[in-house]
Amino acid sequence: MKYLKILFFLFAIQISAQQGGMWIPSLLEGMNETEMQNLGSKMTAQDIYDVNNASLKDAIIHFNGGCTGEIISDRGLILTNHHCGYGAIQSHSTVEHDYLKEGFWAFNDAEELPNPGMYVTFIKRIDDVTDAIFKNVTSSMTVKEKQVKIDQNIAAVKKKAVKEEWQEVKVKGFYNGNQYLLFVLENYTDIRMVGAPPTSIGKFGSDTDNWMWPRHTGDFSLFRIYADKNNRPAKFSKENVPFKPKHFLPISLDGVAEEDFTLVFGFPGRTDEYLPAVAIEQTVKKVNPAKINIRENYLKIVDEYMRADDKIKIQYASKYASIANYWKKWIGENQGIEKSKAIAKKQKLESDFQKKVQSNSEYNHLLSDFSKLYNELEDVALARAYWTEVIYRNIELLRATFRLYQFEEKVTANPASFEAERNKLINSSKGNYKNYSARVDRDVFEKLIEIYATEIPATYLSNKLKNVNYTDLTNAIYTKSKLTNLEGFNFLLTGNQEEVLSKLNADPAYVLGKDLSNDFYKKINSKFHEINLQIQDVQKVYMKALMETFPKERFFPDANSTLRVTYGKVKGYYPKDGIYYKPVSYLKGVMEKYKPGDYEFDVDQKLIGLYNAKDFGVYGEKGKMPVNFLGTNHTTGGNSGSPAIDAHGNLIGLNFDRVWEGTMSDYNYDPEICRNIMVDARYILFIVDKYAGNKRLINEMKLVHPKKNK
Ligand code: ARG
Ligand code: ASP
Repeated sequence: MKYLKILFFLFAIQISAQQGGMWIPSLLEGMNETEMQNLGSKMTAQDIYDVNNASLKDAIIHFNGGCTGEIISDRGLILTNHHCGYGAIQSHSTVEHDYLKEGFWAFNDAEELPNPGMYVTFIKRIDDVTDAIFKNVTSSMTVKEKQVKIDQNIAAVKKKAVKEEWQEVKVKGFYNGNQYLLFVLENYTDIRMVGAPPTSIGKFGSDTDNWMWPRHTGDFSLFRIYADKNNRPAKFSKENVPFKPKHFLPISLDGVAEEDFTLVFGFPGRTDEYLPAVAIEQTVKKVNPAKINIRENYLKIVDEYMRADDKIKIQYASKYASIANYWKKWIGENQGIEKSKAIAKKQKLESDFQKKVQSNSEYNHLLSDFSKLYNELEDVALARAYWTEVIYRNIELLRATFRLYQFEEKVTANPASFEAERNKLINSSKGNYKNYSARVDRDVFEKLIEIYATEIPATYLSNKLKNVNYTDLTNAIYTKSKLTNLEGFNFLLTGNQEEVLSKLNADPAYVLGKDLSNDFYKKINSKFHEINLQIQDVQKVYMKALMETFPKERFFPDANSTLRVTYGKVKGYYPKDGIYYKPVSYLKGVMEKYKPGDYEFDVDQKLIGLYNAKDFGVYGEKGKMPVNFLGTNHTTGGNSGSPAIDAHGNLIGLNFDRVWEGTMSDYNYDPEICRNIMVDARYILFIVDKYAGNKRLINEMKLVHPKKNK
């Protein structure tokens, strides 16, 4: 018996040393539950996910489709990241009332600001529907036939699902399409802005510190869900009332120490942990460098304008942040893949795999299929990266022409939709022009169109961009096109269908954009998808084959924007030989980084005053104010705003980033160096209470002492 215990203990150490994984909350019973408890959790699988009773999952929301948020009061108060609320904070800001710069705090419900278009999603139920989705899908079918059947089955399953009339259903594939789960969701759309610290706190360190440790950012903002009088989702209305959640997270005042259990609960967007080495090689050697180069050029141009002009600074704040974010991530990812020898590791796994499946005719050709297909994909993958980055992502004028192209296609196919499509376009364009500067965009165009034309594989280059002088082209387009301002845009869209289309087709930006859009649909994207469909089919079999071939390994499904649990510990790391990074940072570090008047490292006078007076209230710890901490939770983009939860189900932190050495975790999670970064919940409370003086928000939260009550 004693031996058994020791053995079990060793086994537990073995698996907990090897964390990683984003697990499905409805399937935690068994291995995950045991593992969490071995790490110190006092919760059961049911405390985390339960269909019939309130559980942690009822406090977790998908925030506006991209981030995560959590409910922290019985009045529907949402906590998420500052960078997740950024677009909203920006949209309420003007040069006179700059909430990005000054922060924003509502001192009563009436001051909370509505955000048209914003929504949050609760997961009500998760069901396994794999069998129904694979019904009548046979191995003799072609890839396309299988997909058609699967799509039909998905539609049928969705139709049959039991749900309330205001709820929605989604079906998603897991393990590269080897398992299917159905989600019943509720979307709330009356979401109001409640609080945001100034950028000097919420985005302290900005792009220089982004993806880095040590970190000192108060990356949080507060929103509130409003519902109708029956607590159901409703459009914005003055009659709506604060939402009553089934569960909300109490907040621990006891803080964290190294080795404490942490659970991060949220909506990770995408990982690719089971790609073959050839795919990673393509990403690292071809696609990432192309995208990094394009963005680097964009950022250089826009940064200069933003530093020189306050209006442009507000207009471009959100766009700049999002372009800079992945630019920096890809650089870190490439370095990390190289340093961790991820490709060689995959190759080793593949050679072991190949030996084991040599005589299995279903599996023994998979790796060579991959090689062949990725080889075929390379040029078109690169072309697609150039197209999406340059034409769609970074040159706004061309992005506008792409939307207009889709508009022309739609109304030509269906003239009856003309009025509706035109209105949609006009409505969605207003906001774009509000944040548009033709001067900035012109310079971006000149630089990036040249990169595009010189670098894109030749077969994919439009004739209109061959042998041209880029400066002349740029001048011709930006002086003559009507699309460089809202008035011109509206002018082009005024009149009947024939008039509108003929005006559009005479506009020089549209003429170029239409040609490029045609390239995209007819040459680039179609080919990309055709090859990709085959790759997905091989990947699906490969995933299954890996699980069968290595039954002792742990396989978690790649992230796919569905609700997941990842657990770990508060823990530092060794970024390189001889250096150990401690897992907690303090306000002292903010002061060490302080550069008066700096764009990234300025510190607010009020915060300096609180620091000097050590006025940390009940939130400090032995005379120090903790700011951020590290954990071994396996997270990715989309996990921003996710709660970090302690062993008892209380909020201890707010996830917002990962460390530089570990950004390759989307392809190769390495528990030694992959860390997620969280804001300490006590820092959030300190800012709301001591800095903003907003007692009403503190009063509606539930602050607890789980460690002291033990
Ligand atoms: N890197 C974090 C995440 O991927 C935070 C990004 C926001 N901050 C920024 N400086 N762009 O989203
Ligand atoms: N910062 C990311 C987010 O916005 C999180 C991450 O990639 O670690 O979701």
